[in-house]
Amino acid sequence: MRRSGIKIMAGLIGLIKPLFHFMLMAIILGVLGFLCSISLTILGTSAVLKLLAFPAYFSLKAIFTMLILFAVLRGFLRYGEQRCNHYIAFKLLAIIRDKVFASLRRLCPAKLEGRDKGNLISIITEDIELLEVFYAHTISPIVIAIITSLIFVFFIGNFSFSLGLIAAVSYIFIGGIIPLFNGKKIKTYGMDYRNNIGKMNSVFLESLRGLGELIQFGQTKNRLDEINKLTENISAKEKKLKEAESLTKAITDFSILGFTAIMLLAAMTQFSWGVLSFEKALLATVTLMSSFGPVVALSNLSNNLAHTLASGERVLSLLEESPMVEEKTDGKNIPFHGVECKNLTFGYREEEILQNLFIDIPCGKIIGIHGKSGCGKSTLLKLLMRFWDKTSGSIKFSDTEIEEINTASLRSNESYCTQETYLFHDTIGNNIGLAKADSTEEEIIAAAKKASLHNFVETLPKGYQTPIGELGDTLSGGEKQRIGLARAFLSGAPFMLLDEPTSNLDSLNEGIILKSLNEAENVTILLVSHRKSTLGIASKVYSAERGRLS
Ligand SMILES: Nc1ncnc2c1ncn2[C@@H]1O[C@H](COP(=O)(O)OP(=O)(O)OP(=O)(O)O)[C@@H](O)[C@H]1O
Ligand SMILES: [Mg+2]
Repeated sequence: MRRSGIKIMAGLIGLIKPLFHFMLMAIILGVLGFLCSISLTILGTSAVLKLLAFPAYFSLKAIFTMLILFAVLRGFLRYGEQRCNHYIAFKLLAIIRDKVFASLRRLCPAKLEGRDKGNLISIITEDIELLEVFYAHTISPIVIAIITSLIFVFFIGNFSFSLGLIAAVSYIFIGGIIPLFNGKKIKTYGMDYRNNIGKMNSVFLESLRGLGELIQFGQTKNRLDEINKLTENISAKEKKLKEAESLTKAITDFSILGFTAIMLLAAMTQFSWGVLSFEKALLATVTLMSSFGPVVALSNLSNNLAHTLASGERVLSLLEESPMVEEKTDGKNIPFHGVECKNLTFGYREEEILQNLFIDIPCGKIIGIHGKSGCGKSTLLKLLMRFWDKTSGSIKFSDTEIEEINTASLRSNESYCTQETYLFHDTIGNNIGLAKADSTEEEIIAAAKKASLHNFVETLPKGYQTPIGELGDTLSGGEKQRIGLARAFLSGAPFMLLDEPTSNLDSLNEGIILKSLNEAENVTILLVSHRKSTLGIASKVYSAERGRLS
């Protein structure tokens, strides 16, 4: 659901609360800075008037002293304003990044399964980065423009009420109506543009990962066409944004000239009627002419705002997304002594994958699960990890309903070896060590031995320090699988959930691993496998058909 620009801004401004005093400082410094720069023109005009022997409030000396003082002050004030704004912006970007990562953690893994990862990357990187514009160059300029405009409306209004009115109308038109009109027009382009950039990231990421398949099946041309189409789409959106930007700039410049001409005409008319002195008429015109800076900043802002608001909306949506499984922190902490599932039913969507399942996993035993592909074996393990919540029935973990157990306590009792081991761009040792904080080298080696991995690592010149490419590109399927198993052994959790741990292994390696599993002390193992040979070590095997384990 799309939200309005005002709602997005309110959401983004809500994040500023802890840095409010810096924002206030930026606004004060900004207003003073603009007052200094605008008074330079007014003082200059006063000096000329004085030289022409018109009456003026200050002596020439005072005017020149103020000119120099204000000019120097203007520099310091501008520096101070920018410094505050950028401090707020980058501090907030750090806070937002933190929030986004916390949010991704909450959504994991259920909500992120099947999600467009390239698009997520562009939210985490580019979209957050773009919010800098909002925090450093949007909020304070709006407030600064309102305050300075009010001051000059009163200043000019003091000479003549009608001239003050002209000034008010011109500020509102340039700083309010033009950006609002422009913003409305380009808002949809902005969102389309950002979504297309996200899509482009996804396509690139996918193309890089699937390069082998694309080459093998002759799909590179199609991919290229797809990327070209996306690029053209992005350029078209950008062109529209740039066109709108140029048009706004033209309208703004034209309006400034127009309003200055109207002011000059009105001031001179009043002078000719004798209701306004010449110097006041001139000062009113010069003041208006030189005081458009803050409102022009707003007018230009509306061009960036299309990107910023789109990015803000994407980031806020991610922050507000609710997870499938709420993390439990006020529940029970339990020691592990067995699991019992009764009448367990679950479906990712309407279709039920598991129906009325009964499974008993007594403490210290090895229990096997066997069944055809797609019958829900991995799904059962995900429910036992509480990656998803069951639809009905019960999962009792040490006689406690799984939802009542603190998530951290639950997960510390479990080590889950998935069907596909995810490897990080790091060394083999660190990839195994991931399973246990502060694990020693001896512990890592012991775990690798149990997983029949140690002999292989020993053959590598750098041993456990060998870097493995992204996603373990430099390893074989069986080697990756054994790293996953080594992690499970290292974690030392009392309940091991192993999903097809030996599917890629030869019988020799399988034998070593099964021996390790058989000899493991104080662990309970749930072993999923297609192979009868693997399940030979299980004390009981549940055989699964789609939706039915017996
Ligand atoms: N995140 C998901 N969203 C929707 N459906 C899913 C999701 N994950 C799995 N499924 C579906 O649920 C069913 C069971 O999947 P599961 O991975 O549990 O099968 P499996 O028994 O482990 O199969 P295999 O032996 O091939 O690993 C499959 O039909 C699968 O398509
Ligand atoms: Mg599976």
